[in-house]
Amino acid sequence: MRSDLCGNVTEQKLDQQVEVCGWVDKRRDHGGVIFIDLRDHSGILQVVVEPDNADAFKIAEDARYEYCLHVKGHVRNRPEGQANPNLKSGKIEVVVDNYEVLNKSKPLPFMMDEEATEAVRLKYRYLDLRRPAMQKNMRLRSKLISTLRNHLDNQDFLDMETPILTKATPEGARDFLVPSRTQQAKFFALPQSPQLFKQLLMMSGMDKYYQVARCFRDEDLRADRQLEFTQLDIEMAFVDQEDILNMAEPMIRDAYKKVLDVDLPNPFPRMTYAEAMQRFGSDKPDMRIDLELVDVADAVKNVEFKVFSGPANDPKGRVTILKIPNGAAMSRKQIDDYAPFVAKFGARGLAWIKVNAKETGRDGLQSPIVKFLDDDSLTAILEKTGAQNGDLLFFGAGDYTTVTQYMGELRLKVGKDLDMVKEGWQPLWVVDFPMFDWNEDEKRWDAIHHPFTAPTGTEQELRDNPGTAISKGYDIVMNGVELGGGSIRIHDQGVQSAVLELLGISKEDAEAKFGFLLEALQYGCPPHGGIALGLDRMAALMCGVDSIRDVIAFPKTSSASCPLTSAPSEIPASQLAEVHVQAIYPEVEEDSEADE
Ligand code: AMO
Ligand code: AMP
Repeated sequence: MRSDLCGNVTEQKLDQQVEVCGWVDKRRDHGGVIFIDLRDHSGILQVVVEPDNADAFKIAEDARYEYCLHVKGHVRNRPEGQANPNLKSGKIEVVVDNYEVLNKSKPLPFMMDEEATEAVRLKYRYLDLRRPAMQKNMRLRSKLISTLRNHLDNQDFLDMETPILTKATPEGARDFLVPSRTQQAKFFALPQSPQLFKQLLMMSGMDKYYQVARCFRDEDLRADRQLEFTQLDIEMAFVDQEDILNMAEPMIRDAYKKVLDVDLPNPFPRMTYAEAMQRFGSDKPDMRIDLELVDVADAVKNVEFKVFSGPANDPKGRVTILKIPNGAAMSRKQIDDYAPFVAKFGARGLAWIKVNAKETGRDGLQSPIVKFLDDDSLTAILEKTGAQNGDLLFFGAGDYTTVTQYMGELRLKVGKDLDMVKEGWQPLWVVDFPMFDWNEDEKRWDAIHHPFTAPTGTEQELRDNPGTAISKGYDIVMNGVELGGGSIRIHDQGVQSAVLELLGISKEDAEAKFGFLLEALQYGCPPHGGIALGLDRMAALMCGVDSIRDVIAFPKTSSASCPLTSAPSEIPASQLAEVHVQAIYPEVEEDSEADE
């Protein structure tokens, strides 16, 4: 139907015939001549319908937003002074010889060049996706995925599919369940990731596997989380941690180069989990922000102020400072507003000191708490933080985990508020994660990565000291976003059993849930490991959008529904009966207005 794409018609086609299709982006009626901006994914072309083409003119008069057109015409220069330098086709226009309406459009539910609510955008997603910004996002995503695929294809990775109807895979979220029709009261689970299958593929001698894999996790949605999302899932046999990082890093660099023409650092910096938590209060530090935490427990161990000396003397406590260079310029209100922010993360207060003139001693320090601190402590605090006049110090004091979290959040918030986030791309490997986290409620350990991640030490060391065991897990972080994670897996049945025991999974339970994997570990299982990149997050970062919903063609809303299809929806009882399921309907509240 087409000789050209709208956006690609330029003065090179002067006086030639072209045939284009697209949507009416705008229509203007200028004294008997109709101008239509015709849009397709490549851009906009100005189409002119003149009154002496009576047939075309008659129908073109009816053109409305988003009518779908097929136009034949000839290219001519726009008149002197009428060129549009913002368009590739801006110097020319197409005079219509033949004008065909392929499909009319109802009045639009929202204007294409204006903001619309998410509910409306998703309900009419096909219109939303026609917008140039969304076209750009989808095309970038596609290029990203094809670049990654090419990279792996060139290195002899096998692209293999794994089941969608399967058994629960433990990535820590709730499973989506699918009832079996043929086996009463039995259910499939949708995979939270292909984790167990990709391990089995390594045991199957496939050597190197990848898949652009859909994962399903029933968790609360946020800007960077969807119920179903896409991973670039990778696994390799006969590898150690270094091999995986050395495979993934050039792949990510290649993608940034080919998609964005950006040169990422070589090599990526690396940091241990412990250091990341200590210096940045996060296991995915945003390295674009030049702010770090400095611990001052030693300086305040003996002060009378119990808020500080308590945690300073407690092995599980932390007293730390976030120094804001030139932060003393902040108003009292600005400073006070950070207290409710950190309170959301469990802080009981947010002490601060403005360093106005440190050479004058305590008189040069403005703060509600200096009166509680002796001179030696104040001197030690200033020394440790290297504070200069004009700086502001925020204090976090309390239990290590809580303080680390809220001071990490404060670092990000202040960094953004004060425009301290540097331009550019800062990748970071975070390594040496702990194996476990203590779950006080259930009195057992939780896996930090997943239960198939190998510890660095022996089985005995793991059983003796689970709390200090370090895993062979790693995360790739970009600009403060966790892009992906992976690990070297356990390939020994004894270690695997030890981990499952520590996680409080009984032998019977383990057998029922992943007996097939435990069995497979006993038939010449090679050492293996891998990684999975969150492709939605990677695409969102590359597109510069805040939400992964803007790089997914048909995402769910934050309340986990699809306004376009109205999913999830009710299913007739007869159909449920076929799969041996009965629905429990929410109780309907009595509608008092109906009685009136
Ligand atoms: P993990 O659970 O860390 O690891 O997931 C890998 C990456 O997937 C992305 N991601 C998500 N993206 C959108 N919505 C979600 N709900 C969501 N959850 C995770 C993140 C994350 O870093 N099987 C292991 C990988 C391995 O060990 O090889 C796994 O799934 O970017
Ligand atoms: P209070 O003695 O509770 O009035 O607190 C005195 C100052 O210490 C106030 O500025 C509080 O914001 C701050 N503060 C209280 N608890 C903490 C804490 N756990 N960490 C940091 N600052 C705190």
